[in-house]
Amino acid sequence: MNKAKFITFEGVDGAGKSTHLNWFAETLRQRGLDVLVTREPGGTPLGERLRDILLNQPMHAETEALLMFAARLEHIEQVIKPALKRGTWVVSDRFSDASFAYQGGGRGVPLDKLEQLEHWVHADLQPDLTLLFDIPVEVARQRLSNNVTLDRFEQEKGAFFEKVRQAYLDRCKKNPQRFALINAAQSPEKVKADLERIVSSI
Ligand code: TYD
Repeated sequence: MNKAKFITFEGVDGAGKSTHLNWFAETLRQRGLDVLVTREPGGTPLGERLRDILLNQPMHAETEALLMFAARLEHIEQVIKPALKRGTWVVSDRFSDASFAYQGGGRGVPLDKLEQLEHWVHADLQPDLTLLFDIPVEVARQRLSNNVTLDRFEQEKGAFFEKVRQAYLDRCKKNPQRFALINAAQSPEKVKADLERIVSSI
């Protein structure tokens, strides 16, 4: 039997990854796999409380980075590692690449500090596959404008999201074997077709 895999979904707010994530997980289940869907920040009772703070309470950029990684450590130890160990696949809506993109690219937290946190929190774990939903920032902003309420990140300006997008693309370039880059500006049907190809190659 194949070893259980850890798969993450990433992209700027408004890229549409959450919609596709559920469909992707369902497709894996139809192949007879046991699949756990989770998210960051969050995924544990403590992580969800930290999520509420992170999405609503203004704070120093480095505090934000530390809290993201604190929530992550809890998520890894309580949820991700136990699931993988018992043979359950884990599909997470965001993971550390989001910290490099948002806190690193968006907020300007130095890369070496984030690398230290990454090493501290999960030196022994990386996603087997990361799907990066890439989309021009204006298109993503347009989609977000339909939302009634926007959280602290979603309220950021276009320039912030340009930096987030670029930082994601840099991570993708640095780790080409782990990333699959998806053109999220395409129609949902075309994105689905791309995902189908990815599922069949896993
Ligand atoms: P998101 O997946 O966008 O939740 P929703 O689709 O419900 O709005 O995640 C919430 C926000 O958290 C998102 O704007 C990105 C941000 N975030 C970071 O800034 N750093 C991180 O490490 C993570 C995991 C998320």
